[in-house]
Order: sequence, then C-alpha cells, then structure tokens
Amino acid sequence: IERTFSILKPDATRRNLTGAINALIEKAGLRIVAQKRVQMTRAQAETFYAVHKERPFFGELVGTMIAGPVVVQVLEGEDAIKTYRGVLGATDPAKADPGTIRKEHALSVGENSAHGSDALDTAAIEIAQWFSGNEIVG
Ligand code: GTP
Ligand code: MG
Repeated sequence: IERTFSILKPDATRRNLTGAINALIEKAGLRIVAQKRVQMTRAQAETFYAVHKERPFFGELVGTMIAGPVVVQVLEGEDAIKTYRGVLGATDPAKADPGTIRKEHALSVGENSAHGSDALDTAAIEIAQWFSGNEIVG
C-alpha cells in the first residue's frame, strides 16, 4: 500500500468538478484518505513547483495555481503513485487517453485539472508540505 499527493487545480474547482474527478479517483481503486480545500499563496505555489522554476512557463504555472481554490488530497492504494498518474493521463490533455481526468476535463496543458506526485520521494515531500500526520486517516 502506497500514498500519493494530489491537487485538484483551480480550473477544476472553478467548474465544480471536484466530485466528478473524485469519482474517477475512487473508480480506479484509490482511497481519498485526506482532503481539504485551500487557497494557495504565491509563495506556496512557487515552492511546490520549484523544480520548474527555470522553465519558460513557470510564471504562468504559478499564476494558474493561485487563480482560485484548490483541493489537496492524499490518495492511498496499491501502487498509488503510478495508478494515479494513469488516472490523470498525459500532461497535455490532447495526448491523454479517453477516460482519464485530463482527457475528460482538462482545458489545456496549463489548465490541466489535477496534479499527481511522480515518485515516492516527491510524494512524501508533497504530503508533508500540506498535511500533518493526524489529518491523514487511512
Ligand atoms: P503535475 O502533476 O502538475 O506535476 O504535471 P506533470 O507531472 O504531468 O507535468 P510536469 O511536472 O512536467 O509539469 C507541471 C505542470 O506544469 C503541468 O501539469 C502543467 O500544468 C504545467 N506545464 C507543463 N508544461 C507546460 C507548458 O509547456 N506550458 C504551460 N503553460 N504549462 C506547462
Ligand atoms: Mg509533475
């Protein structure tokens, strides 16, 4: 059993898609073991995506992450990191497989509805950034 970190991005909360996306998550066998709705600060978004700070799209990325509330989540399940990346689909929704979150809901590469951790170490860091241990109930 593994845990991953998820964000339902502002383009998703704006269009009231929290429940629709959570249904895809649960249908894939992942359990939502922690969840809260927050408004990210610019500093939090810059820290979260610090790995991309030299990329040309960094400013736009931070801007889209703070454009409205997000829902941060911890997902638990068998092979959760890889499973959730599969449920998300490709970063670019035009390249995502049918039935994935990004194919069904994303608007563009920038407004691509959800984030999922890409590895065990980043999942642990991201979870610790947003949740204290007693907020996660498996
Ligand atoms: P995350 O789960 O959000 O980390 O996406 P990812 O792992 O599929 O992609 P990556 O970590 O490479 O990029 C992080 C985020 O930056 C993506 O989810 C996109 O929203 C955004 N992004 C990546 N490439 C581009 C780009 O070329 N243009 C813009 N505007 N945004 C991009
Ligand atoms: Mg990523």
